[in-house]
Amino acid sequence: MARYVRFDRFGGPDVLHIETEDDPPLPGPGQVRVRVHAGGLNPVDWKIFHGGPSAATYHAVPPCGNGNDFAGFVDEVGHGSTGVQAGDAVFGGKRMFAQADYVLVDPGTLVPKPDELSFDEAGSLDISGRTAIATVESLALTPDDTVLVSAAAGGVGVLAAQLAIRRGATVVGTASERNHEFLRGLGVIPVAYGEGLVKRVRSVVPRITAALDNHGPETIDAALKLGVPGRRINTIAARGHRTDAGIAGVGGAGVDPQRVGELAALIAAGEIVLPIDTVFPLERVRDAYEHLIAGHVRGKVVLALV
Ligand SMILES: NC(=O)c1ccc[n+]([C@@H]2O[C@H](COP(=O)([O-])OP(=O)(O)OC[C@H]3O[C@@H](n4cnc5c(N)ncnc54)[C@H](OP(=O)(O)O)[C@@H]3O)[C@@H](O)[C@H]2O)c1
Repeated sequence: MARYVRFDRFGGPDVLHIETEDDPPLPGPGQVRVRVHAGGLNPVDWKIFHGGPSAATYHAVPPCGNGNDFAGFVDEVGHGSTGVQAGDAVFGGKRMFAQADYVLVDPGTLVPKPDELSFDEAGSLDISGRTAIATVESLALTPDDTVLVSAAAGGVGVLAAQLAIRRGATVVGTASERNHEFLRGLGVIPVAYGEGLVKRVRSVVPRITAALDNHGPETIDAALKLGVPGRRINTIAARGHRTDAGIAGVGGAGVDPQRVGELAALIAAGEIVLPIDTVFPLERVRDAYEHLIAGHVRGKVVLALV
């Protein structure tokens, strides 16, 4: 039997349901089949099933599958497929198809899962990992930089903050109070987001030289007020805001999935932390998205399929 998360119309998490088929799908030529163990959630998933601009971007026309990130074992190899074997532990992403017991993919898109990395962690890396890598690289950070990172405890922010620190930058991260101790433990200087942000940032560091926005216009406006040039501000959450100031909008789309292998190795070695906020069984997919949409996860929300 194979289960699939699907939606037949746009709407909130209650449009999601699980369909079952008697037999797992068979990989075609050049494909492999992965038995999925875990799959992380991303905001873009719900932005797609809600309809609106993201649905148009990804050409979503219900009925659709759901999710992107997954990790599991290769369990069938189609004719002519190379590079992986049945039994390999792997992770990757497949837009609007990942939340299923089995996914069929091009083996070239799969990344080997390090033994020390859990399926929950590996299955949470495709979008957040690629995005964190791309955004940090977009600013060419050096040890001379002090970078403001918004939503620094969130799925992208927590990875981006740690990658920035590894480049030698000082990181000031926005988060609610309950995440401040956690962020301090990662080497991030925490500040609360919301009204008075500029003043609070000034109280903890003498200057900000760059900004990575993972939440919305507030960080962009604060960074500009703090004297950061627009070309040293990147946003993944408020594209179109202050384009007059030259704000960049680099996301993860251009990053080769294999590059996430380097990040996976760092997490496996304990050099970077990817917190798993909550794991929900597949049957509770609606609850999992309600929790993500509420907007205060630390790290990643994961669906467990085994
Ligand atoms: N363009 C791309 O390539 C790309 C890729 C990935 C993501 N994105 C977008 O980037 C955004 C972040 O994604 P994500 O996966 O990191 O989301 P996420 O994990 O859901 O982010 C959750 C975090 O947001 C923080 N937060 C809540 N309210 C906030 C506020 N008012 N100001 C600052 N932070 C606040 C929370 O902090 P507290 O819990 O401390 O309140 C929480 O840690 C989403 O809009 C997503 O769609 C774009």
